[in-house]
Amino acid sequence: MLALFVRTTLRPGAVKPRRLPGPVPHTQERPLVHQAGLPKLPVPPLKQTCENYLATLEPIVSEEELGHTRELVEEFLKGGVGERLQKGLERRARKTHNWLSEWWMQSAYLDCRMPVAVYTSPGVVLPRMHFQDRQGQMRFAAKLIAGVLEFKKLIDSDTLPVEYLSKKPLCMDQYYQILSSCRIPGPKRDTVLKQAIGKTPPTHITVVHNFQFFVLDVYNSDGTPLTVDQLYMQLEKIWNTSLQTNKEPVGILTSQHRNTWGKAYNNLIKDKTNKESVRAIQKSIFTVCLDAPMPRVSDELYMSRVAAQMLHGGGARWNSGNRWFDKTLQFIVGEDGTCGLVYEHAPSEGPPIVFLIDYVVKYMQKTEIVRSPMVPLSMPQKLRFNITPEVKRDIEKAKQNMNIMVHDLDVNVLMFTDYGKNVPKQHNLSPDAFIQMAFQLAYFRMYSVCCATYESASLRMFQYGRTDAIRVTTKESLKFVQSMQDPSKQNAERLALLQKATQRHKENAYNAIHGQAIDRHLLGLRLQAIEDLTSMPEIFMDTSFAVAHHYNLLTSQVGSKTDCVMCFGPMVPDGYGVCYNPMDEHINIAVTAFNSCEETNAAKYAQTVNDALVDMRALLEDTATAQQ
Ligand code: COA
Repeated sequence: MLALFVRTTLRPGAVKPRRLPGPVPHTQERPLVHQAGLPKLPVPPLKQTCENYLATLEPIVSEEELGHTRELVEEFLKGGVGERLQKGLERRARKTHNWLSEWWMQSAYLDCRMPVAVYTSPGVVLPRMHFQDRQGQMRFAAKLIAGVLEFKKLIDSDTLPVEYLSKKPLCMDQYYQILSSCRIPGPKRDTVLKQAIGKTPPTHITVVHNFQFFVLDVYNSDGTPLTVDQLYMQLEKIWNTSLQTNKEPVGILTSQHRNTWGKAYNNLIKDKTNKESVRAIQKSIFTVCLDAPMPRVSDELYMSRVAAQMLHGGGARWNSGNRWFDKTLQFIVGEDGTCGLVYEHAPSEGPPIVFLIDYVVKYMQKTEIVRSPMVPLSMPQKLRFNITPEVKRDIEKAKQNMNIMVHDLDVNVLMFTDYGKNVPKQHNLSPDAFIQMAFQLAYFRMYSVCCATYESASLRMFQYGRTDAIRVTTKESLKFVQSMQDPSKQNAERLALLQKATQRHKENAYNAIHGQAIDRHLLGLRLQAIEDLTSMPEIFMDTSFAVAHHYNLLTSQVGSKTDCVMCFGPMVPDGYGVCYNPMDEHINIAVTAFNSCEETNAAKYAQTVNDALVDMRALLEDTATAQQ
């Protein structure tokens, strides 16, 4: 995903969520009504961040590099540069609601020039549905749309329950950004379109089938949402008027490198009809992609195949043109029972998205299609595109690049069924820390070294908080994984090392969610130096800094009630993207890598994680038996 992190050249209380009328733009100037009572994100003490930074380097850089970095850090602290930048950050924190959020939005997302498909937009895979034909597909899609509209009522009526983490209320702002929004490409920087305050809210969604986009009005003239029955009939009309399979896949343009798409976008919207069609998609509440069936695979590979379909659509020949990747929320329903979604990451993190999914899935389980009175509904409007030779050339280029991306992405979903959160909990260990140690062990078993590892931590305890990073690789984790590979070690010692490593991880996670991690602070100091037009301090230019930010393991826990799994691409060419959903009795884990890297292999890493989890349970049980 994820622009959980900066990929740019910078590398660089029970508060009721009341809303002001209308959605708000992504700006620090927006009113803070529903945020009242939440603390502001602190700027951590400079010395603390410097010390913790050195500690994170210990397991991943050589003694010599560490020695050099120690000198640079000392100079940064004592020479006055660090202090000056820190004061700049503290001033910024006093003047803004959140000193980080705008910088983060820009540097992690909107400045990022890589394609959003695969590189930043996460997918979500839902369990296979029991339909195999277009009626089933349509019925499912109709219920899904009704469920999302029901969820939208919570947002529109300000009745969305406030979420809590460690008993603290969380910032709910992201929920207000995910509907009726869309990313817009720019030649150098993108923007996010969100309906302005006071404007009439959109009443339509977009539906895409066989690469053809439709506007579907989902409200009756009295403001009530269409019933499932009505939605079904409208979807049928869409289906029947989009049977041709030879249409130009205009949507595939959105999968391009952002600079390329920015230029192609300007070409496309030169034409008035095209511009109106694009605007209709951008302004819609969300998009539903009715996908064509994909080639069949074995049951074992099914979830991996769907994860790929969510991330990129399968290529120009399949469903990659059946998307508008800039759209914040795109639900995907295939004729073959496949379902899930892909979302554009700038407006939101994964947890609000899966909360929405949990709500919709529950709604769908209790909703039956009830025949409603036959009120004639107008035909959904087909969006027209005039394909000029220039646009056609852009589409051809996008198709080629998409196919390269599809061939390069290596995806493997592991449904680990031996146990779930229950086992580490029974042994008084944090499940998240335990699973992260399994990722560390698997990596060490494959490569005999540790690597910089990122885990997302929520900053939503703070106004407009997004994420920081938990640095998973620690001295303690290194000792644990080494002990597991050392035949001279006894299990009792290994267990003690595992306990220490998980405890350390838990402390780091606690510090991160309380705004005391190092990564966003270091980013802030770097951006402050850029803003002050001073030369970049050397600590941000040395090898250790580069190693610390080369995340071979990019991980994120996105837990849900629904038995689903989120997935996202790796951050670096020789790395893995690992997203996991620890459920009580099992764990869903999606692993991605790039085929162009000879050293990585998603299936092999997933299997090694599986084995590590099995061995770690054996370690817990063996030691527990020995103690009896
Ligand atoms: N013994 C027994 N139980 C324990 C335990 C221990 N030592 N430590 C924790 N637990 C329990 C917890 O009480 C919790 O119980 P619950 O299932 O009843 O709620 C459960 O185990 C899970 O806790 P843990 O595994 O420690 O992690 P967490 O759920 O608190 O998650 C983070 C940790 C870092 C993932 C979370 O704080 C976070 O930030 N999530 C958001 C990440 C994000 O934004 N990702 C998306 C990016 S796009």
